[in-house]
Amino acid sequence: MRLIKTKDYAEASAVAAEIMAAQIILKPDSVIGLATGSTPCGMYANLVKKYQNGLDFSAVTTVNLDEYVGLPEEHEQSYRKFMNDNLFNHVNIKPENTHLPNGMAADPEAECVAYEQLINSLGGIDMQLLGIGHNGHIGFNEPSDHFVCDTNCITLTARTIEANSRFFDSPDDVPRRALSMGIRTILRAKRILLLITSEEKAEILKKAVYGPVTPQVPASILQLHPDVTVVADAGALSAL
Ligand code: F6R
Repeated sequence: MRLIKTKDYAEASAVAAEIMAAQIILKPDSVIGLATGSTPCGMYANLVKKYQNGLDFSAVTTVNLDEYVGLPEEHEQSYRKFMNDNLFNHVNIKPENTHLPNGMAADPEAECVAYEQLINSLGGIDMQLLGIGHNGHIGFNEPSDHFVCDTNCITLTARTIEANSRFFDSPDDVPRRALSMGIRTILRAKRILLLITSEEKAEILKKAVYGPVTPQVPASILQLHPDVTVVADAGALSAL
């Protein structure tokens, strides 16, 4: 695991975008795993600037980590809308090359199997971007007594509903379920880029990086992956 120390959110976003851009330059047809949330917004803004300066997304394929169950694509808080607004609509990626689990699928279990097959048919993920929840979740893989392996339908914890309620009118509006890549899906990525910023993530970063590998802290499994780069700002590093 490599740890890149940056001074603040702006620098962390710029460094993460550099790493992602380098991946795309070195392998223009990369399969990139993407994340949503507050943390990657700055990184996506930097990637859009890089596109304006010549970074070519035309051969890139993306697969997102997760999507809420029951939100149509055009819903303000759907992850598809987030990705369109923050990245896809601003670069030359082909819309048909952008994939998220379908949260409106009539059969969520079948959708999970299909999503896993899609990733395999693409030859796997070259670089997976991750954020981390306050409870150590990656994707929507919540603390548990076991690691969930493949893409699956997850019931959100009260803590995650609370954390994500900032994007909705009230906690009651936060969907209770989501489709998420599983831990094995994530760990199969050839490279992992974990972006973590702000002091409120300091304790969980310490547990994830130095604590025991345990499904109670899903991100701790990243210690076992051979190619993880953590980009963190001073706030997130403050407990190390
Ligand atoms: C989002 C995702 C989540 C977030 C995590 C951190 O696709 O998979 O695991 O990365 O909840 O969210 P923020 O960045 O909003 O703190």
